[in-house]
Amino acid sequence: MFITLEGPDGSGKTCQIPGLADFLRQRGYDVLTTREPGGTGIGDQVRNVLMNLDNTAMHPRTEILLFQSSRAQLVHEVIVPNLEAGKVVICDRYADSTLAYQGYGHQTDMQALHNIVNFATGGLKPDLTILFDIDAETGLRRRSADGDWNRLDAYALAFHERVRAGYHTMAAAEPERWLTLDATQSIEDVQTELRRLVLSRLEVATQEKRPE
Ligand code: TYD
Repeated sequence: MFITLEGPDGSGKTCQIPGLADFLRQRGYDVLTTREPGGTGIGDQVRNVLMNLDNTAMHPRTEILLFQSSRAQLVHEVIVPNLEAGKVVICDRYADSTLAYQGYGHQTDMQALHNIVNFATGGLKPDLTILFDIDAETGLRRRSADGDWNRLDAYALAFHERVRAGYHTMAAAEPERWLTLDATQSIEDVQTELRRLVLSRLEVATQEKRPE
């Protein structure tokens, strides 16, 4: 099963992944965690270019293509082989981040973006996507408090509000794939809800695979 975690900046998904992975391993699942942009040697180099605060001249189209190059490498080097080996792959951000940030945020042509994303991923879609929902202002406040500020965080508040609205639109359009949790709760409460949501889906998927 391929699971992705999505949400606006400062939604706290990254710090929840180790706890989720440990929990699933204790229940016997073979879990691999990774992240975007990055997750491979080549992808990490691309990530540095994308995040560098000095790269203010970066054109949105350059940004789009760099994210896809990191993603293509991750899909082919890490995600597909591990799914084929029967693992549960959990990825911190994936293709929906491009649609949310570059599509809704930068207001780029959605059809073109879908095509570029499909090219990068070879059409691989997540089985389950968890949306860590938080308003843009609270998310950005958390990010600056963490001292973890990057080039994309520095986009205007209106950009981040469009990102969040975009996530809501995508989650509503594909309710069988997306589950939403309230990311303004405490870290412990978010972890509890995350475990519950993921485990319920995994158990259903495992039962469906069992022979009659
Ligand atoms: P990161 O520090 O990994 O943030 P987070 O912990 O919130 O995931 O930075 C990733 C940034 O890149 C984040 O602002 C979202 C953005 N992003 C895109 O704009 N498009 C994409 O396709 C991806 C994968 C990320």
